[in-house]
Amino acid sequence: MQSFGDIVAPSFVKQSFSRFMLRELRSDHAGEMGAVYIYKGVLAVTRDARVRNFAHNHLATEIQHLYFFDQWLPSNQHSKLIALWKLSGFLLGALSALMGKKVLFITIAAVETFVVKHYAQQINYLQTQGSQQEQALLPILEQLQAEEQHHRDDAEGRLMPNGPLAKLWCAVVGCGSALAVTIAKRV
Ligand SMILES: [Fe+2]
Ligand SMILES: [Fe+2]
Repeated sequence: MQSFGDIVAPSFVKQSFSRFMLRELRSDHAGEMGAVYIYKGVLAVTRDARVRNFAHNHLATEIQHLYFFDQWLPSNQHSKLIALWKLSGFLLGALSALMGKKVLFITIAAVETFVVKHYAQQINYLQTQGSQQEQALLPILEQLQAEEQHHRDDAEGRLMPNGPLAKLWCAVVGCGSALAVTIAKRV
């Protein structure tokens, strides 16, 4: 796996990002912060070796994703609600894990399904409308998306067939993720 920490944005690239792209990157940074804290929340409450191994593996990737956006998004553009994204991520991970493995894997699958679509929209934007400088983000977002797909598939692969309650919980988590992204783009 490529180390995102090695990819540092030249300052001229950062300065050339459009207002739209800065908002998108702000939501990415906030989302990856939330993801890191989801897995921290899981690890804080579970002793199950299989779940801990799952969470440790995903957390290592999410830390790299967060580090990447820390490098590429000027700090004055970070969301002002970072404490909220940390808390909500931690609570989502911890409470899901406390409700059991099944709920946890459904939650992770729902979050990662949302994230894959979120990155797909940004990749599509860069391919069709992004400036030359913004297109420097393209291969990195594609790699991020592939790793989130792996997270989604890993969680889904551990699931039993889902009933209506699981589908409802997926919808709730998906709506919550969408709301968080909408807020993080603005604040
Ligand atoms: Fe991530
Ligand atoms: Fe992920």
